[in-house]
Amino acid sequence: MTKSGLILGIESSCDETAASVVRGGREVLSNVVASQMQMHALYGGVVPELASREHLRNITPVVREAMAKAGLEYGDLDAIAVTSGPGLAGALLVGISFAKSLAFALDKPLVAVNHLEGHIHAVLMQGSGSAGQRVSESEEEVPVLALVVSGGHTHLYLAEQRAGTWHYRNVGRTVDDAAGEAYDKVAKLLGLGYPGGPWIDTLATHGNPKAVPFRFAEIKHRGADPDAEPTFDFSFSGIKTAVLRYVETHGMKPAIDARRAEFADLKPAEAVSRLDQETLDLLASFQSAVVGNLAKQTLRAAEHFDVRTILVSGGVAANSELRATMAGQAAEKGIAVDFPELALSTDNAAMIAAAAWPRFVAGDFAASGLNAAPQQRLG
Ligand code: KG4
Ligand code: ZN
Repeated sequence: MTKSGLILGIESSCDETAASVVRGGREVLSNVVASQMQMHALYGGVVPELASREHLRNITPVVREAMAKAGLEYGDLDAIAVTSGPGLAGALLVGISFAKSLAFALDKPLVAVNHLEGHIHAVLMQGSGSAGQRVSESEEEVPVLALVVSGGHTHLYLAEQRAGTWHYRNVGRTVDDAAGEAYDKVAKLLGLGYPGGPWIDTLATHGNPKAVPFRFAEIKHRGADPDAEPTFDFSFSGIKTAVLRYVETHGMKPAIDARRAEFADLKPAEAVSRLDQETLDLLASFQSAVVGNLAKQTLRAAEHFDVRTILVSGGVAANSELRATMAGQAAEKGIAVDFPELALSTDNAAMIAAAAWPRFVAGDFAASGLNAAPQQRLG
């Protein structure tokens, strides 16, 4: 085994403590994720202070496990990479402090990575006929369109590699809730488990997606100027309110309150037989509307910017209906669409080590004063 191009990635921006070793930005030697999901499920959402404390508890064993699984000594590493933002300040600081200490003690360079850039590289790092392969082998460096859709973000980026360096331009974003946030809030208000995405993904297949008509307002421009360059923004707070209104006007609350405690200990598939058809139809209609809106805006942007490849990443990219819908609609327009494998869709550190690789090659290292950037933007 050649011991070069080895980057240890560390990710702690939200509720997953993760470490991974990736060689040359592509070859995953280990990918360890300690999820805090069960703890936050008790509260129906991530509790920032508890997240920081859990990261502190988990970071050392998680990094040790990533190194052991890769079969490496710390001295073999070429660099340490860490998520610097966006995310929860206290959570980010745990990963950053750990990575800085390691880089200092080992006298290795430290690379700071934007979490959203990490999600994009989760797709780019995967080879064999995927967009990653096409992009890296492409003679001309053409832009791709990346939809990053998770619990905290719903962003569209034009991503382009020029002389080995990646450049990003934000061309769309949610103006209120992220798509994953809408999944989590709707699941919570219907008395389902946390996080809501996998629950609704499973249950929606048992309902009628046309039962409840949900509508999305068209957001074509930021500001009032109709001649401005179009933007491809999203809004997901309206559909959450529409679901709430449906629940209230259809007298669904007593059944929701009755099942909440029982469902906390169930797996999504075990809940199917315990739910009435009206709830399953409501979930199918919600998912169909959200997925339809994500696909429509993304394809509009792809056609506007004339891109040939779309990358979809982030936790919601694990959604089965989004995968099928995007693949089908993009194929009709002759556009390729790629998703990361499921383990790399949700938060992980392999994507951080992969995104760090071009920065490492370019000598783009973090300053010794690197701090957490909770609101950090990309592009
Ligand atoms: O990327 P991620 O792990 O963390 C953030 O950066 O936010 O994404 C977590 C989000 C949660 O909102 C979760 O409900 C959603 O991704 N999610 C899904 C699915 N799996 C996870 N949403 C829809 N369908 C899924 N299968
Ligand atoms: Zn994420």
